[in-house]
Amino acid sequence: MKALVKAKAEPGLWLADVPEPVLGPGEVLIKVLRTGICGTDLHIRAYDGWARQAVRTPLVLGHEFVGDVVDVAPGVTGISPGDRVSGEGHLVCGTCRNCLAGRRHLCRSTVGLGIGRDGAFAEYVTLPAANVWVHRVPVDPDVAAIFDPFGNAVHTALSFPLVGEDVLITGAGPIGIMAAAVARHAGARNVVITDVSPYRLRLAERVGVSLAVDVRTSGVEEGKRALGLREGFDVGLEMSGRPEALRTMVANMTHGGKIALLGLPSEEFPVDVARVVTSMITLKGIYGREMYETWYAMSVLLEGGLDLSPVITGRYPYQDFEEAFDEAAGGRCGKVILDWTA
Ligand SMILES: NC(=O)c1ccc[n+]([C@@H]2O[C@H](COP(=O)([O-])OP(=O)(O)OC[C@H]3O[C@@H](n4cnc5c(N)ncnc54)[C@H](O)[C@@H]3O)[C@@H](O)[C@H]2O)c1
Ligand SMILES: [Zn+2]
Ligand SMILES: [Zn+2]
Repeated sequence: MKALVKAKAEPGLWLADVPEPVLGPGEVLIKVLRTGICGTDLHIRAYDGWARQAVRTPLVLGHEFVGDVVDVAPGVTGISPGDRVSGEGHLVCGTCRNCLAGRRHLCRSTVGLGIGRDGAFAEYVTLPAANVWVHRVPVDPDVAAIFDPFGNAVHTALSFPLVGEDVLITGAGPIGIMAAAVARHAGARNVVITDVSPYRLRLAERVGVSLAVDVRTSGVEEGKRALGLREGFDVGLEMSGRPEALRTMVANMTHGGKIALLGLPSEEFPVDVARVVTSMITLKGIYGREMYETWYAMSVLLEGGLDLSPVITGRYPYQDFEEAFDEAAGGRCGKVILDWTA
């Protein structure tokens, strides 16, 4: 079968013929239909410092996908050939304290699909049945392909109650924009989003934010004034991984404000901890998705009319992966999709 492979320990990706994966005990074999390109895949293609220590070659990339089940191992129940599925890309150990307690998203030995084992940028992928999410209600295949990052957005956005609250989101990447759509849908009063890319701020406007602030030319303070916020934001969602974004957020929260942090900084950085203490701000780190509470929320949010279509801006057949990756790396885009059926 065809697959996108990190074949050599150097920058680049290779479209290669590799053996079809063999169904193991407790697994499900899936014919991949569409996949989403993630920042992680860009790091692996570029082979930067993180990728050098995180991946061993050869590796089939990819963790954001939708596909159809073609076979299930004996004993697997509740999943059948023909089911339309997406996959939870965090494979957990099942034996650590948190796994045993059912808190699988807190597993201490998570292995990443397409990072620590072969992934979904291929015609077929296998996954443990426990990692398969069946779409019981029809979902647009492009949206189903990005359930993984949509789950990051939902997990972060729903970390703290939002109804009637003023929400600040730093970073209008695909995940920040999806989080803005979720916050709106879930009943936030104001949703303010920041970025340094006019293109992405315009995309964010399409999901109905109250204000999209280009922090290169204007401040969050001005935005607060324009919306008539007298104190500060109640909930902050950090989705850029940038030190200055978290600092701006901390400075603009109300007393008792709650901040969920998804953005992954590339290095340590200082923040005004005295302000966190005296304003009694809560900081919560978010990794991945809750298994499977977040997935349930995603499916029913879409069923309830949440519209993610503005976030998908690029569609390519898998053979044109170089152009697709270049578009994703260029930043003038939302989510970029590869079609594996073309
Ligand atoms: N914790 C997790 O499980 C998890 C999972 C997926 C992604 N992530 C991280 O979440 C973040 C968002 O993911 P994404 O795919 O949307 O990434 P992305 O890189 O596409 O988006 C980040 C956005 O932040 C913007 N930005 C840069 N400087 C800024 C500033 N000073 N203020 C505001 N915005 C600024 C960028 O222009 C970009 O649009 C990334 O940091 C990613 O690494 C974390
Ligand atoms: Zn991803
Ligand atoms: Zn575990």
